[in-house]
Amino acid sequence: MPDRFDLPAGFRWGVSTAAYQIEGAVTEDGRGPSIWDTFTARPGTVRDGHTGAVACDHYHRYPEDIELMRGLGLDGYRFSIAWPRIQPTGTGPANPAGLAFYDRLVDALLDAGITPLPTLFHWDLPQALEDTGGWLNRDTAHRFADYTTLVADRLGDRVPAWITLNEPFVHMAYGYAFGIHAPGRALMLDALPTAHHQLLAHGLAAALLAERGLDVLIANNLTPVRPASPSPADLAATTAYDALHNRLFTDPLLLGHYPDLSAYGITDDLAGTVHPGDLDLIAATPLTGLGVNYYNPTHIAAPTDPGLPFTLVDIPDAPRTAFDWPIVPEGLPELLHTLHTRYGPALPPITITENGCSTTDPLDDQSRITYLSTHLDALATATTQGIDIRGYYTWSLLDNFEWAEGYHQPFGLVHVDFETQKRTPKASYTWYRDLIAVHRARW
Ligand code: NOJ
Repeated sequence: MPDRFDLPAGFRWGVSTAAYQIEGAVTEDGRGPSIWDTFTARPGTVRDGHTGAVACDHYHRYPEDIELMRGLGLDGYRFSIAWPRIQPTGTGPANPAGLAFYDRLVDALLDAGITPLPTLFHWDLPQALEDTGGWLNRDTAHRFADYTTLVADRLGDRVPAWITLNEPFVHMAYGYAFGIHAPGRALMLDALPTAHHQLLAHGLAAALLAERGLDVLIANNLTPVRPASPSPADLAATTAYDALHNRLFTDPLLLGHYPDLSAYGITDDLAGTVHPGDLDLIAATPLTGLGVNYYNPTHIAAPTDPGLPFTLVDIPDAPRTAFDWPIVPEGLPELLHTLHTRYGPALPPITITENGCSTTDPLDDQSRITYLSTHLDALATATTQGIDIRGYYTWSLLDNFEWAEGYHQPFGLVHVDFETQKRTPKASYTWYRDLIAVHRARW
């Protein structure tokens, strides 16, 4: 059986983070409020009332964090740019202090020999844009294009590859359909236009990046979808869920059309939201790479609630992370094989832009080492079966603000004491460092 040391030559090793989860400094240097500042200020939204106001204080401590990255021997660092630092109200000229922060960050990364891989949108929409409808408003896509221009013009001379959006499915589902994340709307299937407007934003931004000679990726949260039983009703529900979670976000990008949601019993479809020419635009700029965030498969059964054509069910017998997420490493190659079969030559090279787990063992995190090593071994089997996988960015460098869970789900290779901001590398940090060194020496 191939293992992680068989991952190909030139394979890129990295870590991932996101602005609101680590930066803090939410009112500094002209940053405007984001939907997460508003959401976390509302009682009852986040466990124990935690907020990202200070988080890991990365805004001030980034040199120390880059030293930790240098110690790992990373090829790349995936982080996100906070739109409200660049345009405090989501429109108009750039805030110079906001751009200057990312300028310093990029230069410091390059000095450490680490390639920056920024994500332009990781859920922290400027609140002023939410006030005009957020991603329900088509205009937000055009505002995103303006923001992209400002950032790409400043950093594009040093940053070769860009991720437009992070997990548009999760932002739609958690943010606009169920109200678990900011902006806290509970619109159920009426949230579907946010999928299209995010994809339109991707298409507009991708063209601007490509015009500047920059590589374009998107990071999708994809999941292998499995029927709870072979019954026809469970199988039909599985196909419906797969269309909504996976294909809604990859079919338009790679095939130029949406799956026919009405065929799966999802009645509130996208007609009316999609304007002529939109689908051409979304697919027009070929992706240089598809970012895949993988955490676990999804098991689906026939609907029990009339509102949705499926039910999510527990995965029996799987070990669990501290977050109670099932641990299923073989789901990763399963997902990649599905993508390979489904999209054939239209599938661009893949980068795993997130994978990791929260653990309860603060420093001797053997369970994280097991999680990462088994997923990387599983990934190696997919590369030896002809799937083009270019890199792996583990989530995350630091323990950080895990959205609705606050600071209760530590995903880091490095422990953060949120009282003192002291960083302490965990056992997994040393393990990842050694893996990178051994893999690199082998090739
Ligand atoms: C997905 C998100 O992109 C990231 O922000 C989050 O912290 C991790 N997965 C873990 O839930």
